[in-house]
Amino acid sequence: MQECLIRDFPDFIGKEVTIKGWVSNRRSSGRVSFLVFRDGSGICQVIAERDTLGEIYAEIKKIPIESSAIVHGTVVEESRAPGGFEVQASGIEIVQKSEEFPIGKKEHGPDFLLSNRHLWLRSQRQTTIMRVRDALVRHVRNYFYENGFTLIDTPIFTTTCGEDTSNLFSVEYFDLGKTYLSQTGQLYLEAAISGLGKVYCLGPTFRAERSKTRRHLTEFWMVEAEVAFNDHKKNLELQEDFVSYIVQNTLAEKEAELLSLERDLEPLKKVVPPFHRISYDEALDILRKQGSDIQWGADLGADDETVITQLFDKPVFIENYPKQTKAFYMKQVPDKPEYVYCADLLAPEGYGEIIGGSQREDNLDVLLKSIRDNNLEPERYGWYLDLRKYGSVPHAGFGLGIERTLSWICGLKHVRETIPFPRMIYRAYP
Ligand code: 4AD
Ligand code: MG
Repeated sequence: MQECLIRDFPDFIGKEVTIKGWVSNRRSSGRVSFLVFRDGSGICQVIAERDTLGEIYAEIKKIPIESSAIVHGTVVEESRAPGGFEVQASGIEIVQKSEEFPIGKKEHGPDFLLSNRHLWLRSQRQTTIMRVRDALVRHVRNYFYENGFTLIDTPIFTTTCGEDTSNLFSVEYFDLGKTYLSQTGQLYLEAAISGLGKVYCLGPTFRAERSKTRRHLTEFWMVEAEVAFNDHKKNLELQEDFVSYIVQNTLAEKEAELLSLERDLEPLKKVVPPFHRISYDEALDILRKQGSDIQWGADLGADDETVITQLFDKPVFIENYPKQTKAFYMKQVPDKPEYVYCADLLAPEGYGEIIGGSQREDNLDVLLKSIRDNNLEPERYGWYLDLRKYGSVPHAGFGLGIERTLSWICGLKHVRETIPFPRMIYRAYP
């Protein structure tokens, strides 16, 4: 009898196998029980009959769901069975009889499910989302590998703040006082381009944002890219090529999973270059025509983004925000210094911002002035300013949020299901 994975059943039809896993579901009668069985690679149906199994059948007949077990039996193709295969059991060993599983068939509220995330994570829907996440991250890495980028792992403890100083998590760091959990790897990527040209990072980032929305986490994963000699225009071309690649490859690999999440695939198929481009000022015009009283200089809110994405069938860049609205490092538009060379990329169907990117200020004096104007302490930026002293070049980059992108690809309402253990204002357990 050969041990095998359910995933490999097509190679084992008619053969005797051993599988190890968990009972996802059970239906029993006097002489036969049907178990939905899961081994981490897939699911199948196990047919357990009293006459074959003998004494243990009494226990199998009422085995609690989520019990762990080892099943021996013959693989049979059966299109009507969950997973398309049955195992006609010749023997079953119970590894551990489960206590009554807290997550049942009845509807549970999100708080209950999140408090039981360690158990919820084994449900079929959640494992499907995790498999899509795995594919997405793999295609992200493949894109950069195939396009000549070098991975740079940027630090998590930092003393140089890259984004909004009002949402930093601070950590006591030995005798050095406060350090902060990184909000972005960007500044460190900027240091790496002078040696490596094209670089990227992919890791957790932290924002102490008091926003209780469907798209905010306090700990999220971001992939960031930085390219020497790229300007704003090339930066957008890189982003549309990258986003199209990761969406199309994830879709091709995980079509069955996305369908099982009831994702409509048609809008995703349209995600190919070129994406739409509108300016910040055009976005304000659109919003005002729809009755908004948004003022010049305000950042777009989630609702504003939703309105705009619904007008386009593909992702849309909003370019050239006011200088005052965005981070200190963005390059001013030469003939219109009240604007910066930047863009947010909004995903369609109401999803909104998935990328923030910009061309960076490469002039020492202009950058120093911007640091001062933003009430940041220049002493903390000594190393970052050095980059503008020793062979400064035009350069640009962007950061894409993995969870927001995954929630868009999977068609989920909330980012909390896209990360194994979500961290939000009111949740740091389990
Ligand atoms: O727009 P952001 O703040 O850009 C940066 O951090 C730049 N330094 C990136 C760069 O140019 N290298 O964040 C980038 C993306 C957002 O578009 C969004 O997808 C995601 O990170 N993001 C969040 N995702 C979940 N929860 C949050 N609180 C997020 N904040 C940003
Ligand atoms: Mg942003």
